[in-house]
Amino acid sequence: MTMWNGRFTKELDSKINDFNSSISFDHVMYQEDILGSMAHAKMLGETGIIDKTEAEAIVEGLQGILEDIQSGALLFDPNAEDIHMFVEEVLTQRIGDTGKRLHTARSRNDQVALDIKMYLKTKMEQIKAALMELTETVIQKSEENLHTVMPGYTHLQIAQPVTFAHHLMAYCQMFLRDLDRLKDCYGRTDVMPLGSGALAATTYPIDREMAAKELGFSAITANSMDGVSDRDYCMELAGVLSILMVHLSRFCEEIILWCSSEFKFIELDDAFATGSSIMPQKKNPDIAELIRGKAGRVFGNLTTLLTMMKGIPLAYDKDMQEDKQAIFDSIETVLLCIGAFTPMLKTITVNKTAMEQAAQKGFINATDCADYLVKHGMPFREAHHVSGSLVRLCIEKNCTLDQLPLEEYKAQSSLFEEDIYTAISVSHCVAQRKVLGGPAPEAVKVQILQAQELLAKLK
Ligand code: ARG
Repeated sequence: MTMWNGRFTKELDSKINDFNSSISFDHVMYQEDILGSMAHAKMLGETGIIDKTEAEAIVEGLQGILEDIQSGALLFDPNAEDIHMFVEEVLTQRIGDTGKRLHTARSRNDQVALDIKMYLKTKMEQIKAALMELTETVIQKSEENLHTVMPGYTHLQIAQPVTFAHHLMAYCQMFLRDLDRLKDCYGRTDVMPLGSGALAATTYPIDREMAAKELGFSAITANSMDGVSDRDYCMELAGVLSILMVHLSRFCEEIILWCSSEFKFIELDDAFATGSSIMPQKKNPDIAELIRGKAGRVFGNLTTLLTMMKGIPLAYDKDMQEDKQAIFDSIETVLLCIGAFTPMLKTITVNKTAMEQAAQKGFINATDCADYLVKHGMPFREAHHVSGSLVRLCIEKNCTLDQLPLEEYKAQSSLFEEDIYTAISVSHCVAQRKVLGGPAPEAVKVQILQAQELLAKLK
């Protein structure tokens, strides 16, 4: 028997009931739903809207339902329309008519908005903890590789020398901003909608502040129609998680490249790589590839939410039931991905020699060769041309800039002296890039300190 049967003469068609029902995916919010109802019942009792002893019976009944769901004694009814209806139905079965008073001055639109916000807040805490551990791991790997010189690339062509620490710290910065975005999103989610009613609040003298305090919300929504009809916090979180997945996916792409035979910059631990069913020699970076692949579903969920919301009139419309699967999937995917990524990164072996050897190639020091001339008075554009000619000469002679005899240098410009070889030595090139934000070990140390301070503040 449905709850609205007063107005209806027939039961809902059973196939349509399945179509309409959200319990298969919103049951994960049972705890939030029950805690929300407890706070509501207490408030109804305190304000005298319902009898205090009845409020107590409701809270006690809800507590029993919570415990029974947790212990497995109470199973979700797949025929229930949603978790909100399910909990209320069980409550009324258990405590009788008093249970029917719980929904006074409240709507399911209220409940669903409240439950989602509470659920997202908990999940954001979990994502934050996982992301902080990942960021700390990145920092730790950087500390171990302050002096590990590697090629920096643009267009995937060797560009200028950096260190592995500097390269890793670039990701640390991205993750720090992801944490910051998450914090921002948390703040906007931490606003309680309960009391919005179906859309037009209520005529009962409810105390919204009391409920907000009980449920740990920092603020309450200012407009009842907005309170039940926006899901921008879902879209925002889906956006935050999408950006995070872009970062994670790029990192994975690099890990995949770095453990190829062509690069050999790192090796994955055997516990975080897979073999081939046919090719005995293979060691595949499946984990990194899967994370790169899973980024797509997180972006897809963002598109789902944006598209679902863009055309619906105020206030609540049933379209919004589609919010949960999308945002829940993004949350679980991100938790899964970070959970796999962090230990994979922790256990990589860094092949410092391969990185350093690769940094000798590709005329990586050609900019520094030009800079040498600039420091001796030549305008940069001219120096760029001279250095370019020397590179061309090296290509013809099949040698590197370090191997080119001093006469060849002097033939291009009389400004060159013996100390050009120090100026273009790769470790010198890195050490000289010591400005704020640069790859020199001392500059990266500053970056690490700042990142650690930021992390401590976010805790
Ligand atoms: N299951 C619904 C949802 O997820 C709950 C709100 C239903 N409200 C309503 N008026 N039908 O959105």
